[in-house]
Amino acid sequence: MPHHHPDGPDRPTRRRFLQSAALTASAAALPAAYAAEQPAASAPAQVPPPVPARPVRLHINGKEYALSLEPRVTLLDALREVVGLTGAKKGCDHGQCGACTVLSDGRRINACLTLAVMQEGRHITTIEGLADGETLHPMQAAFVARDALQCGFCTPGQICSAVGMLAEARAGAASTVQPPPAALPQSLSDAEIRERMSGNICRCGAYQNIVAAVRDATGAMRRS
Ligand code: FES
Ligand code: FES
Repeated sequence: MPHHHPDGPDRPTRRRFLQSAALTASAAALPAAYAAEQPAASAPAQVPPPVPARPVRLHINGKEYALSLEPRVTLLDALREVVGLTGAKKGCDHGQCGACTVLSDGRRINACLTLAVMQEGRHITTIEGLADGETLHPMQAAFVARDALQCGFCTPGQICSAVGMLAEARAGAASTVQPPPAALPQSLSDAEIRERMSGNICRCGAYQNIVAAVRDATGAMRRS
């Protein structure tokens, strides 16, 4: 007698049921979607005209760049795709992960959330511009010393964010941990560092060493 596997060809399975239900649902939705895509013969198609590229001057890591960009291009895409600085990473492109963090006039920003044209006249610093020649920025050195990374994808954003964060703390910016007047950098607790760095997600979960690196760099930058 042939052996029938419980999921054999004769037996309807939950998976097959779901597959056929999905097919039926999409077939039913098709006419409506199709109709929506077909404009009435008399109505002209509403296609917005293309916006031509325009000259954009960006100041990045101490250099001037004369670019030609469509106004819709984000700073992140301009950096990565046009200028060729790929240190800032595109994690989410929606302001949720911090991998694209750069400094604009010393303030940390998400490069995916700003248009390149909006940064004309500002000084952009990316991870490529933090070191002083061969000498690493103290924050970079602290990340290396503390081994504060695993895959490294979030690291340029973490480092730029930490540099901007210390400047904010020095300037007295409040956090939810420490109400104003905010702590000076030398007294940032680990809870402060975690809170102030909470816009930078690390999918590897290297937070313990990241916090240690920021703590070390805070001390090193105070002494220097
Ligand atoms: S890529 Fe900009 S915040 Fe994620
Ligand atoms: S080190 Fe991998 S995402 Fe942070």
